[in-house]
Amino acid sequence: MSRRRTAILISGRGTNMSALISAAMDPGFPAEIALVLSNRPDAKGLERAAEFGIATAVVDHTDFAGDRQAFERQVDAALKDHRIELVALAGFMRILTPFLVNAWSNRMINIHPALLPAFKGLATHERALEEGVKLHGATVHYVSAEMDDGPIIVQGAVPVLDTDTPETLAARVLDVEHRIYPKALELVASGKARISGARVTAGGNDGETAEPLIWP
Ligand code: GAR
Repeated sequence: MSRRRTAILISGRGTNMSALISAAMDPGFPAEIALVLSNRPDAKGLERAAEFGIATAVVDHTDFAGDRQAFERQVDAALKDHRIELVALAGFMRILTPFLVNAWSNRMINIHPALLPAFKGLATHERALEEGVKLHGATVHYVSAEMDDGPIIVQGAVPVLDTDTPETLAARVLDVEHRIYPKALELVASGKARISGARVTAGGNDGETAEPLIWP
């Protein structure tokens, strides 16, 4: 089985990155993590990736004086250098322009800490508590030109407790993120995920052979 060469793009601590790397250590997993790229040289996840023996690269966005496309051309060149086929954004905190989104159309996925389309953007846990929602969670989706938008692959939900703070809720959602991101990458890398308009399906439509796209 040929495994899809996958890059993970990070900006920070990289716990989702670690979850993807751990899943891909199974030789039967359909993606291999061939590169971890960060826009921040001090991202903690870079050290962790190197400990796993994975190639790392830094494209520091501050070197491009606000020229987002020049930054993205450099990212794209690094991905091509490493013969990357799929890209997984894992806490990559840069807004992408249509250049990179189109270059990786249907081959770039992202994880967002909310049940999209609710709570796009930042401070999702604070806003979920403010709005009084009873269910919160995380979403893995294909990346489209709009921020935190694009066909949804997998979602995982957690109950919101009366005692929750943004921190306790974030921790429970992060645990879900680590469960659903490997599942989503598996579906995409294996070719089981199929995009049909806004909807992603995986497997048969008889409810039995279909892969579950929700957690738990
Ligand atoms: C994760 O919670 C991820 O969902 C979020 O950043 C965190 C990164 O943590 N991403 C976004 O908010 C993107 N809109 P990690 O570095 O430990 O994986």
